[in-house]
Amino acid sequence: MADPTKVMLDEAEIPTQWYNIIPDLPEPPPPVLHPGTHQPVGPDDLAPLFPMQLIGQEVSQDSYVDIPGEVLDIYRMWRPSPLYRARRLERLLDTPARIYYKYEGVSPAGSHKPNTSVPQAFYNAQEGVKKLTTETGAGQWGSALAFACAQFGLECEVWQVRASYDQKPDRKTMMAVWGATVHPSPSDVTEAGRKILAEDPDSPGSLGIAISEAVEVAAQDPDTKYSLGSVLNHVLLHQTVIGEEALLQFRKIGEMPDLLVGCTGGGSNFSGLSFPFLREKLAGKIDPTIRCVEPAACPSLTKGEYRYDFGDTIGMTPLVKMHTLGHDFVPDPIHAGGLRYHGMAPLVSHIYELGLVEAEAIHQNECFDAAVKFARTEGIVPAPEPTHAIAAAIREANRCKESGEEKVILTALCGHGHFDLKSYEIYLAGELVDYDYPEDKVAAAMEQVPVVAGA
Ligand SMILES: Cc1ncc(COP(=O)(O)O)c(C=O)c1O
Repeated sequence: MADPTKVMLDEAEIPTQWYNIIPDLPEPPPPVLHPGTHQPVGPDDLAPLFPMQLIGQEVSQDSYVDIPGEVLDIYRMWRPSPLYRARRLERLLDTPARIYYKYEGVSPAGSHKPNTSVPQAFYNAQEGVKKLTTETGAGQWGSALAFACAQFGLECEVWQVRASYDQKPDRKTMMAVWGATVHPSPSDVTEAGRKILAEDPDSPGSLGIAISEAVEVAAQDPDTKYSLGSVLNHVLLHQTVIGEEALLQFRKIGEMPDLLVGCTGGGSNFSGLSFPFLREKLAGKIDPTIRCVEPAACPSLTKGEYRYDFGDTIGMTPLVKMHTLGHDFVPDPIHAGGLRYHGMAPLVSHIYELGLVEAEAIHQNECFDAAVKFARTEGIVPAPEPTHAIAAAIREANRCKESGEEKVILTALCGHGHFDLKSYEIYLAGELVDYDYPEDKVAAAMEQVPVVAGA
């Protein structure tokens, strides 16, 4: 087809397997360690929090994992998702670059997050779990898990980061519509939350704090397990349906991206889009540049140290080797709540250390400026998180204007911003603040990071 605006696939073309990149990497990622012994954790250490099927996927050495039929049935509600060519944006920028975006805002929750919430709820329901607890930063993950729990008859309890709870009351209502219970985090219903509130009653919260609260509640009840919306290997695995579809869509139009850009909070939408392309790159078939984009206020990849740290603030999770700003670092309340995480997925961190991907950090005013350009041309109002990827795509398209290069750029538009309009209101009023890299706060947080001998 000549010059399509959007590239669609048939339902029959939804991938039937998730792609696991680990066996294709030149070196295996470092093991997850027990916080007490500093020895690699085994399945029994993780069993109080996760069902066995997901623990198996976390450590799987198989290149592909079959997607259960029950999960595919639900994926069909919105998948395959469209791949758009951003022609109107290209015209505005007057660039010779060709910009594409894979749009995940078509899911019921409005983002890529149901790609993993649905299988997570499915495997938990299969193993007899009654309730899932979780954190949410942007409100997107909590909504996605609430939706998935409703599909499988599970209870759902969500800790929503305070800054996001106050900025986005409608996300809370959406979760309640799907039957979930929502607390602002830090909350007074957990020991972790009470400890943080005692130190700082006005804490804006962070993903790390909300994770501590959700983990605490799950660990105390044998019928309850915990569900994480990013960071872990099995989450990244589930998201690869995005990239597999995108590869197929590019093949249909006889194009291939020269550059992939994705925003990185915990790393799941970025990995979902890029890992299938990285597989092709490692096999020598294509050679795109792959770039992570993170907020300047919380730059774990570009400024964090690569070392073992806790996934949560209180220190209840196992130790994972990742780029970290320190587990008790509380980022400034930027509007991209889903990017306010102190660490990065261990797998993304490992791949970054291997030099297979690059990273840059951008301030939020440039991101909202890019988002408004995007909305006025392409129509879709992006969630604050992917505005980082859009800003990076625009930077590159402007460079192409200078050089005359006809680069093909692919980005993940991983969610819409219909519940984020307050942030746009603040931006349009000229009141959005850029936060600089908080060197002192990070240095203080890094002092609390445990020292693991020989790592
Ligand atoms: C729309 C959206 N994009 C991106 C993210 C960041 O997470 P990840 O890096 O795992 O995709 C979030 C997290 O909440 C989100 O809601």
